[in-house]
Amino acid sequence: MKIAVLTSGGDAPGMNAAVRAVVRKGIFNNCEVFGVREGFRGILTEDFIPMQLGSVADVIQRGGTILRTARCEEFKTPAGMDKAIANLRRREIDAVIVIGGDGSIRGAQALNDRGILAVAVPGTIDNDIAATEVTIGFDTAVNTACNAIDKIRDTAASHQRLFIIELMGRNSGAIALAAGLAAGAESIIVPELPYDLDEVSRRLEGSRRRGKLHSIILVAEGVASAYEIAAELKKRTNQDNRVIVLGHLQRGGSPTAFDRILASRMASEAVDLVLAGKGGRLVVVQNGRYTHVDISSALAQKAVFDSEAFELAKILSI
Ligand code: F6P
Repeated sequence: MKIAVLTSGGDAPGMNAAVRAVVRKGIFNNCEVFGVREGFRGILTEDFIPMQLGSVADVIQRGGTILRTARCEEFKTPAGMDKAIANLRRREIDAVIVIGGDGSIRGAQALNDRGILAVAVPGTIDNDIAATEVTIGFDTAVNTACNAIDKIRDTAASHQRLFIIELMGRNSGAIALAAGLAAGAESIIVPELPYDLDEVSRRLEGSRRRGKLHSIILVAEGVASAYEIAAELKKRTNQDNRVIVLGHLQRGGSPTAFDRILASRMASEAVDLVLAGKGGRLVVVQNGRYTHVDISSALAQKAVFDSEAFELAKILSI
């Protein structure tokens, strides 16, 4: 069997561990494995590289993706799709394993619908794929954000300052919530829940009265710019503040052991699926178990925000 593997969309720590597992598990099962460079674009430009066991040596600990990634608009057009299918057929590729977020998972579905066996592995720091408890890269991003917040807290405490920190996540507050709970942020503002800056200000003033002179407020990027929130808080509290946008820092770095294991297990499951001829599936973790679901039903599911964790963060950060 000839299997192609690609990483697409925003990179996520652990993608290399997933590519490594596809290559090694595929070769273990007597498959030929090809890496496609720069996501779906590489199918269109025919950027296929034969992968050997050694092609993925020393990559398990590396952030980013050795196959590189891209967001490809042409692939989404009917002409682009036809070209992709033709290129895969000409090379006699039997199956494609796509590692990426929701757009990439949709791309896998599109290939599968057009007759190329395709399976998706959820790789995104955003943890916004409802069908799986966790996506590859989320744990590392949360740890990176938590470390950054810890550092900012040192200087916030020394200067008795208020810091507003903007975190990634697109439309999801998952990174902000997890990092906020882990780092004891005084307030967390996420797109999933309404927020009230008057209430945030009252909490800040209450803390100051009790003698707590520094605070950290996390804002998920899907809510608003941290600069806007900072300006609004300044008006309400008259307290000086500083803004930090953590940005792409959250996408880089060596994956945590958790992400390496998750990526290896999910990718191994994906190879099993293509060997069994099961396409249109998304590998997921549900109730702590590695399994797979139909891509179309997975993408129709709406992510459930962990309100319990949010309430706990609020109680504990008082
Ligand atoms: O999906 C991952 C992510 O990092 C989001 O959190 C963020 O909104 C987006 O990608 C940023 O995309 P880009 O790297 O294209 O600016």
